[in-house]
Amino acid sequence: MCDVTIRVMTIDDYDQIYDLWIHTPGMGLNNLDDSRDGIARYLKRNPTTCFAALQGGKIVGVILSGHDGRRGYIHHTAVAVQARRKGIAAGLVSHAMEALKREGIHKVALVAFERNLEGNAFWESQGFSVREDLVYRNKNISELIRMDT
Ligand SMILES: CC(C)(COP(=O)(O)OP(=O)(O)OC[C@H]1O[C@@H](n2cnc3c(N)ncnc32)[C@H](O)[C@@H]1OP(=O)(O)O)[C@@H](O)C(=O)NCCC(=O)NCCS
Repeated sequence: MCDVTIRVMTIDDYDQIYDLWIHTPGMGLNNLDDSRDGIARYLKRNPTTCFAALQGGKIVGVILSGHDGRRGYIHHTAVAVQARRKGIAAGLVSHAMEALKREGIHKVALVAFERNLEGNAFWESQGFSVREDLVYRNKNISELIRMDT
């Protein structure tokens, strides 16, 4: 991780980050939330808690995190294939957790596809436990076009 810099993400990073997401197998994207406007809205609400990791001036990792005043949530954590297993995602998580803590948040949640074994192994390594007593439910209020990579 010594040649990697982690800094707050801005909307100017969007093109590089979208390119990373779309080329990362296992991401659950959609046409509204992950559009430039959708991400700009997310960053406006959560300006201090989303991070990019850079190596040689290029973005190789990203984490979105934010909160609703009570619970913190993490979305779309990804590291470029050639930069993996160097602690970059762990560094991004640590930055996000510290930033959420500074916002007064005490607990952070995320969802991962059950089939994403590597992703789940990563979250387990970071101390995110599986809540066997909960069922995740949701309902769309707009028509979304899903793009599972
Ligand atoms: C999951 C992901 C973000 C991990 O990024 P990374 O920078 O390689 O992770 P780190 O190097 O910080 O890994 C920290 C620890 O997580 C665990 N881990 C990471 N990748 C793992 C894998 N493929 N298999 C098993 N354990 C893994 C290990 O314990 C690792 O520590 P170690 O390397 O000392 O053994 C990356 O593989 C990725 O982008 N995957 C595709 C997108 C994704 O699945 N995102 C998360 C799900 S929502």
